[in-house]
Amino acid sequence: MIKKGCLDIVQAKCENCTDCILAKTRKNVVFSDGNPETARIVLIGEAPGETEDETGKPFVGRAGKLLNQFLEEAGISRENDLYIINTVKCRPPENRVPTDVEKALCERYLTAQIDIMNPQAIIFCGATSLRSFWEDKKVQISKVRGNWFTVTVNGKEYRAMAIFHPSYLLRNHSMEEGSPRRLMQHDLSVIKSEILGDRQVCSSNPFNKELALV
Ligand code: URA
Repeated sequence: MIKKGCLDIVQAKCENCTDCILAKTRKNVVFSDGNPETARIVLIGEAPGETEDETGKPFVGRAGKLLNQFLEEAGISRENDLYIINTVKCRPPENRVPTDVEKALCERYLTAQIDIMNPQAIIFCGATSLRSFWEDKKVQISKVRGNWFTVTVNGKEYRAMAIFHPSYLLRNHSMEEGSPRRLMQHDLSVIKSEILGDRQVCSSNPFNKELALV
């Protein structure tokens, strides 16, 4: 419970934050989802949308449901393998992209979450989170997705990969080879095998041992 205890302290500060204008219109601060004690990967989205603002949980609206489908298909457990957060913790009105000021004022919560989690990998889900850490602020996800790179947060290096944002995939239905949805499947399978291993827990195994997939 060590990570959870530290994150709870950051969350309590974040929930009282009034540093930027988003505090005036939010219903809930959307801090995180997932089990910090078991998660080996931090997934960073953009900002809460309407459903996230209502519920206080990231990625629970339409985009989140699509993300869940891709994760499940790749064999990545949202509950146990991922700690899910956003670049900014409060909903921008009309779901606009957060401004540079909003991102800068929220950065201390984001970097604290990464620092405490000390993940084996960071997944940047969509351009907004990627650009917060990438020098070229106009970088396109399609140019860099699927490749590992290194990001430095508070002086520590992390392995990282960018993937498409599920909102983009909601507008792109094709499953043709090379389509965004097929590339998303590919990227998540690489993350699964390289970070989590090609293993799955068989729930019917009475000893609850990890069984290798054949
Ligand atoms: N999009 C995001 O980037 N984050 C959420 O939490 C929901 C939608």
